[in-house]
Amino acid sequence: MVGSVLLERMRAEGDFEGLEVGFFSTSNAGGASPSEGADGLLLDAFELGRLRECDVILTCQGGTYTSGIFETLRSSGWRGYWIDPASTLRLRADSTLVLDPINGEQIRQRLDSGCRTFVGANCTVSLLLMAIGGLFRSGLVEWVSTMTYQAVSGAGARKLTELARQMQCMTLPCEDLAGRTSTEVEQSVTRAQRSASLPREEIGAPLACNVLPWIDSAMDGGQTREEWKAAVEATKILDADPPVKIDGTCARVDAMRCHSQALCIRLARDVPLAEATELVRGGNPWVRLVENSEEATLRQLTPAAVSGSLEVAVGRIRKLNLGPAYLGAFTVGDQLLWGAAEPLRRMLVILREHIG
Ligand code: HSE
Repeated sequence: MVGSVLLERMRAEGDFEGLEVGFFSTSNAGGASPSEGADGLLLDAFELGRLRECDVILTCQGGTYTSGIFETLRSSGWRGYWIDPASTLRLRADSTLVLDPINGEQIRQRLDSGCRTFVGANCTVSLLLMAIGGLFRSGLVEWVSTMTYQAVSGAGARKLTELARQMQCMTLPCEDLAGRTSTEVEQSVTRAQRSASLPREEIGAPLACNVLPWIDSAMDGGQTREEWKAAVEATKILDADPPVKIDGTCARVDAMRCHSQALCIRLARDVPLAEATELVRGGNPWVRLVENSEEATLRQLTPAAVSGSLEVAVGRIRKLNLGPAYLGAFTVGDQLLWGAAEPLRRMLVILREHIG
């Protein structure tokens, strides 16, 4: 999914102009390539010789491919630029995480000093920093607790399709709602969720009309890897010393492609609400502040509203009753755009400027 959104965005922004492009495939070499491909055919993504001819390799193939090919390519002497959203290379000392509205200066410095490996960060981390990067930049954030509501697209295309099949199973038994009581509808949906015939090979559980508070593998201390990534990757992007403190519970919900996060932010002091709000607004041009009202929230601060947009919505900003230094907020961003494809295509633009 990231690959097709990336292609769409690169076409929309005219990124292919002036580039000589080859499209590689791990499964369909020899098939027809997108029209921008110089050869017209998909190349073999395991053919080292062809890969080594590239100045830049931008891959959306995933961690297994990166693990299998990156070291081989580098140890064969390839010194091109590698751009990749997979987590495999994120924490290497010789890689830079890319989220240029937040760390554009760091990216350019790393290019100047010879870095050739650029990696997209975890989508939840990128979307969190896009939402409240202005607060982090102010130095006023002591810690953030984020409770996530992550879309199925973050888990991959096959799971998204399975979710749609699950949704069909939920609604089919009560397709004709006329004359049914709410209790009958609820019981029918719950029965469908628990039925052995519900498709769940990919997701492993019913996700339709449900919440799954576990994403990725288990880490020490009870965290999941998704939860662990937040502080580790944000620290690298922000080049923070001491490390930033971020933790919370990550949950999968049945949204399609927008990740939402409910934030509790501990500030270093009692910052007036208007000042904190301005810091959020000034974070970057893609922040879209949503007024803290029912009407604005339901119209602008939901996955349905934000899906497909580059704007990162931030709303429900208020002082929490926990104390004057506690700020609450809710943010929604498109996982496939700022969470995945957009930082990669922008890295390519920065790289072209750098190479000149
Ligand atoms: N790990 C994310 C998710 C994908 O499961 O939603 C984006 O990095």
